[in-house]
Amino acid sequence: MTSAPKGNRNTIGYSRLQVALHWVVVLLVIEQWYTSQAIVRTHNPFLRPSDTDLVLHAMHNYAGVLLGTLMAVRIGLRWVQRHPIRTDSPGWQERLSRAVHGGLYVSLSGQAVTGFTAAYLWSSAGRVHILLWNVTLVLVGLHIVAAAYHTVRRDGVASRMIAWPR
Ligand code: HEM
Ligand code: HEM
Repeated sequence: MTSAPKGNRNTIGYSRLQVALHWVVVLLVIEQWYTSQAIVRTHNPFLRPSDTDLVLHAMHNYAGVLLGTLMAVRIGLRWVQRHPIRTDSPGWQERLSRAVHGGLYVSLSGQAVTGFTAAYLWSSAGRVHILLWNVTLVLVGLHIVAAAYHTVRRDGVASRMIAWPR
């Protein structure tokens, strides 16, 4: 990795808090996918919801609010904490990476808002919630392909988030 210009703390790397939050959010997204299956069963008019499904539904709502809060914290951290310097990646890769990361921030924050709205205020927001989930799946797919590519190239990008910062 190129050395950071002196005095610019926005060019060093992700902080421990940013790395920890990245992986907590990944676990919560997997948990949200798993618990959402129980919502589909709970809302099926031909099935009597099991106690487990009701607990999983509640878990989805509370963990979703937590996930939305953590995304807000992450967006805040981007303003106040360090941000990684770029490697020698071509400009189009930089732009694509910024678009995918920005898209993930928007789609996950949007899901927390639309999920809350669908559950407590206006059920039709559920359609936007589901649409945003499909957007998230596409973006996560692209993100994982990019992470695998940088891991194979060993250009230092993957280790920014995989290695624990010193
Ligand atoms: C970033 C956070 C969230 C993620 C990733 C997420 C993910 C999902 C997924 C994958 C589904 C199922 C979509 C399908 O049927 O194909 C779903 C449905 C649902 N979620 Fe979330 N969710 C999040 C936050 C929330 C929150 C905060 C609430 C409520 C407080 C919530 C309430 C609901 C409801 C009510 C549905 C059923 C929507 C419908 O069928 O119309 N979600 N969510
Ligand atoms: C639900 C799954 C995931 C989500 C929502 C997600 C989200 C994000 C976001 C928003 C960033 C940008 C951080 C910032 O600049 O503020 C990021 C960076 C990163 N993520 Fe993920 N991520 C996910 C899964 C993964 C996985 C599975 C890997 C690796 C195998 C990974 C590796 C990375 C790496 C290496 C970076 C740093 C990229 C760079 O500095 O240019 N992510 N992730």
